Formats: sequence, structure tokens, C-alpha cells
Amino acid sequence: MLGLVNQFSVFSNLSNGLRYENGTRRKVVLLTGATGTLGTHILHLLRSDDTLAQVICLVRGKSVRQRVSNALTSRQKEPLRSEARDIYRSVVCVKASLGEKNLGLSSQDTLYLSQNVSTIIHVG
Ligand SMILES: NC(=O)c1ccc[n+]([C@@H]2O[C@H](COP(=O)([O-])OP(=O)(O)OC[C@H]3O[C@@H](n4cnc5c(N)ncnc54)[C@H](OP(=O)(O)O)[C@@H]3O)[C@@H](O)[C@H]2O)c1
Repeated sequence: MLGLVNQFSVFSNLSNGLRYENGTRRKVVLLTGATGTLGTHILHLLRSDDTLAQVICLVRGKSVRQRVSNALTSRQKEPLRSEARDIYRSVVCVKASLGEKNLGLSSQDTLYLSQNVSTIIHVG
């Protein structure tokens, strides 16, 4: 398995995460499949990891934040709050479709992700 990861992964361009005014950095995780069985449990773990600045979920369809929140509650996990009041790490849900060119993302979102994501977890 590690051989496959090494052979097909190019992670050298990933960022070190968001940089804060005091010079520290915290990681930004990009997660696909956050409404699915595995993704919901992974998101639940990530959102309480205080070494992370952000978890960005790529989700297809409409009302993407509500969809992720519903997926969490359907598995007896805490729902997402409005971002300002979320006691967990900041969870950002972005509309995307994995089968589309550039994942269906706007150029602005693509730029933000390419500059800030430090870890990708693909379970979509
Ligand atoms: N569950 C296991 O025990 C297990 C074991 C080994 C490997 N895996 C692999 O791990 C992956 C996830 O498994 P799972 O059980 O969590 O699957 P799942 O419950 O069916 O979830 C799939 C997730 O991927 C999303 N997705 C699928 N196609 C998409 C697209 N075109 N654009 C955006 N999002 C898309 C789904 O979004 P929607 O909600 O919009 O459909 C959902 O969030 C699969 O590849 C599976 O083969 C799973």
C-alpha cells in the first residue's frame, strides 16, 4: 500500500497551512466524502483536533453545509453550528463535484485551496 501511495502521490506542493499573525501555522485539511459513512466519522474526529485551523469539505448538491450537518446527526454526532459559533475547528463546506473539471470549483476557491491546504483526505 505504501508503495502505491509513494508511486502515485505528489504532495510536495502542499502548503504548511494557515499562517497566523504570531508566525505560527496550523494545518488545513481538505476532506471529500464528508456526507458518507467514512467521511462523517473522519470529520467528527478532525473537528475536535485543535492542531488544525480548518477542515474544508467538498460536497456536491445543494445546501452543502446542511447536508454535512444532517450526515453527522444521522450518525449521532454533533451537528455543525453556524461557523461563528462552532466550538470545534472551523468547518467550511464548499460545493464541488468530484467528476467535474477542477472539481466544479470556482477559480477563487481553487486558488484558496491550492495555497492553503496542507492535508488531503479523499474518501468520496
Ligand atoms: N465503508 C467502508 O468500510 C470502506 C472500506 C474500504 C474502502 N472504502 C472506500 O471509501 C470510500 C468511501 O466509503 P463510504 O462507505 O464512506 O462511502 P459512502 O457512504 O457511499 O460515501 C461516499 C461519499 O462520497 C461522496 N461522493 C461520491 N461521488 C461524489 C462526487 N462525484 N462528487 C462529490 N462527492 C461524491 C458522497 O456524496 P453524496 O452524499 O453526495 O452521495 C459521499 O459523501 C469509497 O471509495 C469506498 O469504496 C470504504
